[in-house]
Amino acid sequence: MTRKIAILTSGGDAPGMNVAIRSVVKQALALGIEPFLIFEGYKGLVENKIFPAQNFNVDDYISRGGSFIYSARFPEFKKEEIRKLAKKNLSDQGIDSLIVIGGDGTYQGAQKLHELGIKTVCLPGTIDNDISSTDFTIGFDSALNTIVEAVDKIRDTSLSHARCYVVEIMGNLCGDLTLYAGFATGAEVVITPQNKMSPEEIATVVKKQTFEKNKRSVLILTTEHLYENLKNLAMEIEKISGVETRSSILGYIQRGGKPSAFERVLATFMGIKAVELIFEHKSGLAIGFKEGKIKYFPILEALSIDKKDHTKKITQVNKINQK
Ligand code: ADP
Ligand code: F6P
Ligand code: MG
Repeated sequence: MTRKIAILTSGGDAPGMNVAIRSVVKQALALGIEPFLIFEGYKGLVENKIFPAQNFNVDDYISRGGSFIYSARFPEFKKEEIRKLAKKNLSDQGIDSLIVIGGDGTYQGAQKLHELGIKTVCLPGTIDNDISSTDFTIGFDSALNTIVEAVDKIRDTSLSHARCYVVEIMGNLCGDLTLYAGFATGAEVVITPQNKMSPEEIATVVKKQTFEKNKRSVLILTTEHLYENLKNLAMEIEKISGVETRSSILGYIQRGGKPSAFERVLATFMGIKAVELIFEHKSGLAIGFKEGKIKYFPILEALSIDKKDHTKKITQVNKINQK
């Protein structure tokens, strides 16, 4: 009997999810497994929105952002009786395995399905890069490129007007997007949850950069959730430093847009590996990209690996950007 596999995307969407879906579908077909698409994440799984992948042209979406099978946040999936409906919907169609693309919450749902007897493999799909079993998540590189393009534009206007700008970067409580954007843009102050600075501390750097280093433009990048009100923070910095200061929140613009070339290659390799594991009847696993290689880990291990400590890199970026 032909084996059947389904795929879903869950949590915050990320560029490259469509590439991963395509890769899973193509690799399944190559191995003689019948692929299915589940629309709207775990919500769609429970509502039985499961369709044969061959009804869709997955090639059409390789360069498109978002997830063409949609994503959802569905807290009800934490309840066992709801997850049992999911299992029933899969079993009714003879589907024994599931590949999920999402972040740590999605991984927890997948682990629970694995415990219910569904063969599950997770792919890391989130712009935040907050999954420690991979050096890079699908979505991170594209979001970083979007941020860098936006911050470069803010630099243009900042230079013209001799102003300081505070730019808030989405990434939940993970500072990776902010840190890497700091290296890529040369922003004078880079703030992540590991080095939260007071308005006075920021203003001291702004003053030094402006009046001692004679910089016309000072950019401050901060991870979201660290300051309650960005406008107020900018006003405080202006008041203390004497440098005209504005604020800008990048927000959801970071989640959309074309996947980068790197993301497309990464998502393709990860999708292929996920299907190979299912083909070998493996389950409860999470794919990662570590030290240049595609690897896999038990989901529980993937969730428990300590987050990389970026303290040294944060010190480094601030040091070189303030020289
Ligand atoms: P992400 O996957 O990006 O971290 P969320 O934290 O919103 O995003 O998780 C995505 C979805 O995964 C949730 O909306 C929910 O359906 C499911 N989920 C999250 N945590 C659990 C859990 N503890 N048990 C079962 N399902 C979960
Ligand atoms: O996890 C991706 C992410 O975009 C985070 O960076 C952000 O904090 C969160 O999702 C926003 O969630 P929502 O789309 O539910 O507002
Ligand atoms: Mg998460």
